[in-house]
Amino acid sequence: MSSSRIVVTGRIPDAGMELLRGAGDVWAWDRDEPIPTSVRDEQLATAEGVLTLITERVDDAFLDAAPNVRIVANVAVGYNNIDVAACAGRGVVVTNTPGVLTAATADVAIALMLMTTRRLVEGDRLVRSGAPWEWGMFMMLGSAIEGRRLGVIGMGSIGTAIAERAIAFGMEVVYHNRRPVDPALERRLGAQLVTLDELLATSHVVSLSCPYTPETHHLIDAAALDRMPTTSFLVNTARGPIVDEAALVEALRSGSIAGAGLDVYEDEPEVHPGLRELDNVVLLPHLGSATVEARDAMATLAARNFVEVLAGNPPLTPVTGSPTTPT
Ligand code: DGY
Repeated sequence: MSSSRIVVTGRIPDAGMELLRGAGDVWAWDRDEPIPTSVRDEQLATAEGVLTLITERVDDAFLDAAPNVRIVANVAVGYNNIDVAACAGRGVVVTNTPGVLTAATADVAIALMLMTTRRLVEGDRLVRSGAPWEWGMFMMLGSAIEGRRLGVIGMGSIGTAIAERAIAFGMEVVYHNRRPVDPALERRLGAQLVTLDELLATSHVVSLSCPYTPETHHLIDAAALDRMPTTSFLVNTARGPIVDEAALVEALRSGSIAGAGLDVYEDEPEVHPGLRELDNVVLLPHLGSATVEARDAMATLAARNFVEVLAGNPPLTPVTGSPTTPT
């Protein structure tokens, strides 16, 4: 096992690197910019396992360059950068890092909900601009979330954590999911499974936490945005292409929804130019899991998966979801 060649295609925290170094001969791309394909392929030629970030596309071309690879360990919970079917066809195990970034991502969803409904970023911009202002009864009024409905699309662990936090803010929760969640969880959250149409039409805030798959591509399109009330908000901490960004710009511009908070983008890291011009949208640079603690835990879990598979054991957190095609 100690001679296994391990390739790490981007910078990861030391906690993960130390584990990997104990498991084999590690080569890591140690710069922040993406690894050039020619450098990557040269390293992949003799690799037995690869640690990937979400910016790395694992497709047939990648796998062709990596004939001896037995595991692709993605340092992320989302794995739409990986062609899971192509990996399965070649007997390559794919793993992800569920659980360890749940709280961090849910916190960002709630932060986006508060920033948009309470116009907090607009307020920050006003103060920084140096423009004169003073407290006013009608100044920069936002909208309350207490007593309002949150619609969670994708009630997995992150959706559940968002719901739990929203309940602490006095919100009522409905959800839309491929299948109903455990009845005990439904009871604990007081959350009801509803159709997508009902969720869109009745929620004050719609929050996306579903995986990106061919089925969820543009799930929130012009028609879906049209169903949302003019006073409602959209929050996306999942994946950009779940939302038709051009349609969202139009909905925000025309006032057919009140606002949006985005952590992810359809063509990341590009942001639709129309979004940058609007005051009723908050734009974050994919910070969902960006805490020191979550990133350490993600790197550690990815490395532990690695150690297990290279030792001939089953992975701790294999990807078992429906096949995805890389975006
Ligand atoms: C994930 O884990 O899927 C996040 O989007 C990246 O940290």
